[in-house]
Parts: sequence; C-alpha cells; structure tokens
Amino acid sequence: MSDPMRPPVSHSRPQPESPRSESPRSEPARSRAALRTAVVWDVLQDALDRRVKATGRQALDVLDTGGGSGNFAVPVAGLGHRVTVVDPSPNALFALERRAAEAGVADRVRGVQGDAGGLFDVVERGGYDAVLCHGVLEYVDDPAEGVRNVVAALRAEGVLSLLAAGLGGAVLARALAGHFTEARQALADPDGRWGTGDPVPRRFTAEQLTGLVEAAGLRVGAVHGVRVFADLVPGGLVDTEPGAVDALLRLEAAAAELAPFHSVATQLHVLGETQGNEGARPPGGVRR
Ligand SMILES: C[S@@+](CC[C@H](N)C(=O)[O-])C[C@H]1O[C@@H](n2cnc3c(N)ncnc32)[C@H](O)[C@@H]1O
Repeated sequence: MSDPMRPPVSHSRPQPESPRSESPRSEPARSRAALRTAVVWDVLQDALDRRVKATGRQALDVLDTGGGSGNFAVPVAGLGHRVTVVDPSPNALFALERRAAEAGVADRVRGVQGDAGGLFDVVERGGYDAVLCHGVLEYVDDPAEGVRNVVAALRAEGVLSLLAAGLGGAVLARALAGHFTEARQALADPDGRWGTGDPVPRRFTAEQLTGLVEAAGLRVGAVHGVRVFADLVPGGLVDTEPGAVDALLRLEAAAAELAPFHSVATQLHVLGETQGNEGARPPGGVRR
C-alpha cells in the first residue's frame, strides 16, 4: 500500500496527509509523500470541482473502492464531500476511522467492509457522483469486472478516478537498479511481474487501462503518468538540495499529461467520465 501523504506545497484546500497519531514525519518524508500523490490529487480535485459546478451540489457522494486507511478519502471529505470507503481489510478500516476522527471529518466518512467484486452487496448501485479506485486493480481477481463494478456505482453523470501500477515504470526501475533479467521478465510477463518476489500481482499499460474504462462504457477524459521521475531520483538529491522538491513536483506535473511519459510512469491515472457528462470534461476535452 502507498504511504500516507502530505504534500508540502502550498494549496488553499485540504491535501492528503499523514495520520497525526503516528510519529511526526520528517520534512524529507513529507516531500517524498507529496511526490507520490500531487499529480493525482490535483486531477481529482479538479474533477470533483467540475462535478460540484455541474450538479449545483456542494457536497458530492463519493465512493472510494479499496480506499484503505483513507489516504484520499479523508482529504476528499475535507473538501466537504460524503465519502464511503469499501475495503476488505478491517485494519485499514480501523485506521480510516481513527484518521477521519483526527481530521474532524468522521461525520462525512463511512467505512464498509467489502470488495470490488461484491461491491453491490455493500453499497448502492448508481449512487455516487464520483468513484475512486486507486491501487486496487492490481489485486482484484478480474480487473475488467472490477472496472465494470466501480462504473456501475456511478450516477447517470459521474466521474471515475482510476489509478494503477504502470508496466513501463517497473521495467525501467528494475533495469536502473541493475536487475536486467527481471526487467526483461516484467516486459514479457502477461501481468507485468518481474519475478516470484514481485509484491505487485499485476501492472498495466495506459492502453490497457483506457481500454478497460472504455469497455465499461465511460469516455476517457484524461490520462496522467504518475511518479515518472520521483522513484528514479536518488533520495539524497531531493532531500538535501534546496528547492529540489518543488522543482521536481513541477516537472512531474508538466510530464504527467504527455503520452511519451506514460510509458515509463510508476503509476497511471485515468479519469473516466459518463458519456453524457459534459460538465466533467476538462477544458480542451480528451487529453492523452
Ligand atoms: C495499495 S492499497 C491502496 C489504498 C488506497 N486506495 C490509496 O490509494 O492509498 C490497496 C487497497 O486495496 C484493498 N483491496 C485489496 N483487494 C481488494 C479488492 N478485491 N477489492 C477492494 N479493495 C481491495 C486493500 O485492502 C488496500 O487497502
């Protein structure tokens, strides 16, 4: 699971942040956390803002499938939205509850034990303005069914935020670490795994993810590469050079939308929109 996050960059609205009951995190730890999440958070926040404008409702109903301990759910609730988190892990849901209370948003966050496969055993079909599915498709038995289910949780007009591990980023990272055979194995493996010790069960190309989203009936609004550089840059460089984190954050933001960088990103983010959902479309339309 990705670490709790707290981008240090100045934003006027709530950001993903770390649970306060954990020991205070060092500035480098916060910087690294920001590098992992800033691109997704910005895209997600924009998408939610557009839904608010389109619906005329300040508080949206948001479903976070596999939302874990609330890395995104809690800051989304901090924006004023009502968030339901579905996750199979009781420990994650316990941490979610604690974190939501500490952030003062417990009344807007509901944790439910369940999984993407049996989503409608625990939540309403067609009941949500936005659905998050971050870091989950890698683990489900059937990614196509998982995407169909999260899309079916959307209202007639709604938006899907889908984040999953990218194949190319893993190949590049293994190669740069000197693990050339593993890098080649990931390239050849149908699930993009570099070996039996690989902790990630499945990785995706941007084409595979957009294909799943379109097959489930959504239009692809935008694709972003996430952590194109952040995982490859030596830690010391980012942690000690003044201004390096901000500069790297800006570089990540600039590269994220450019298709050539999608092939080497650690993660890929796809924004899916219901077909009649003009209000959710970013200015300029589809960006790939
Ligand atoms: C990598 S963590 C991501 C957590 C959170 N979405 C985030 O971005 O920080 C993966 C989460 O997916 C959950 N998960 C695993 N299998 C799942 C399934 N079949 N359906 C829904 N969630 C699942 C795990 O319990 C875990 O909380």
